[in-house]
Amino acid sequence: MASVTVTDLVKVYGRDIAVRGINFEIPDKSLVVFVGPSGCGKSTTLRMIAGLESISHGELRLDGQLVNNVPSRDRGVAMVFQSYALYPHMSVRQNLEFSLKLEKLPRSEIEARVSHAVSVLQIGDYLDRKPSQLSGGQRQRVAMGRAICREPKVFLFDEPLSNLDAKLRNHMRAEIKRLQRRLQVTTIYVTHDQIEAMTLADIIVVMRNGIIEQTGSPLEVFERPANKFVAGFIGSPQMNFFDGTVEIADGTRYFTNPHMRVPIDDERFGDGLAQGKAITAGFRPEDIVPHGHGVEPKSAVEVRTKVDITEMLGNETLLFSALGDREFISRMQQPRMIDPGETMAFDFNVERMHLFDVETGSSIRAA
Ligand SMILES: Nc1ncnc2c1ncn2[C@@H]1O[C@H](COP(=O)(O)OP(=O)(O)OP(=O)(O)O)[C@@H](O)[C@H]1O
Ligand SMILES: [Mg+2]
Repeated sequence: MASVTVTDLVKVYGRDIAVRGINFEIPDKSLVVFVGPSGCGKSTTLRMIAGLESISHGELRLDGQLVNNVPSRDRGVAMVFQSYALYPHMSVRQNLEFSLKLEKLPRSEIEARVSHAVSVLQIGDYLDRKPSQLSGGQRQRVAMGRAICREPKVFLFDEPLSNLDAKLRNHMRAEIKRLQRRLQVTTIYVTHDQIEAMTLADIIVVMRNGIIEQTGSPLEVFERPANKFVAGFIGSPQMNFFDGTVEIADGTRYFTNPHMRVPIDDERFGDGLAQGKAITAGFRPEDIVPHGHGVEPKSAVEVRTKVDITEMLGNETLLFSALGDREFISRMQQPRMIDPGETMAFDFNVERMHLFDVETGSSIRAA
């Protein structure tokens, strides 16, 4: 069992900086998901923790012990890759036993660990097969089995499910979560898929361009995004953004642009917003309710515009519209057929509005 602490961690490749001095502390037994767009430094961070990449600057501690210069095999971590990385010429059983034999563990110990992993992952039926004789999901199970056999202090997963089809991915995702709960091993999981991050994580770490944009529970990063990037990255379809300015009239602040005028609640956003300041408002698709086709918000601003396209998903329909040149997506919970080009009224949920500083991108909040 182990906590993972990283201080000012940097990775430099020649003239490129892949990780720009990040800090985090992962509590023992937790499941932390690193999420962010391609190239933001997720794999690099994981590989430094695994000891597969050297650390350029900063400190890595496992259970408080500095391990920057400890070789990978002595760190007590086990990594599972997207590509499975199984030995193709070995049977499943041999794949599971391989690193344990390298460690020169007694035969009885090897057998006990392998049979434990086999029963946890239910891979007993194909122990004598080669990886090429397995499906993608079965291979991924074997790869996880191999990690479990090593009884690591920390599991590291790098996009382990991205080669699987959507249904199997959902299934394996739930399995990984159950496994982690059961084995109680500190786990770091990397993905670029924000839905995977939201559903798996105890704690989400959102990265971009080699830095951490926000760390928090799935609910925190969804409800209280630190900035416009996180707000747009977490949530699907993504949050809609509208540009505008602050208007103060009769002591009340408003977010205004040519299409809407939304009161700003000083309790949520503070009373520091000056008249004329450029701000961005954000509304998630579920917070723009086609009038009469969902739960009416307690406090709403109505905007009328055309529906350009609809996407029927069965349990709901996504409506694509625009205000000026700004496109937005809304969610219709009580579907009916919509004619393309039909004009509808949309209730923008005032209590669910987010505001961002145009210059910094930071979320605006009361102090
Ligand atoms: N061995 C390397 N040499 C030089 N640059 C590298 C090397 N490995 C990664 N990089 C660069 O470091 C940055 C971060 O890469 P990394 O693989 O960590 O991204 P990632 O977040 O895992 O992305 P993805 O979601 O695509 O896997 C990228 O700009 C990448 O080009
Ligand atoms: Mg990667």
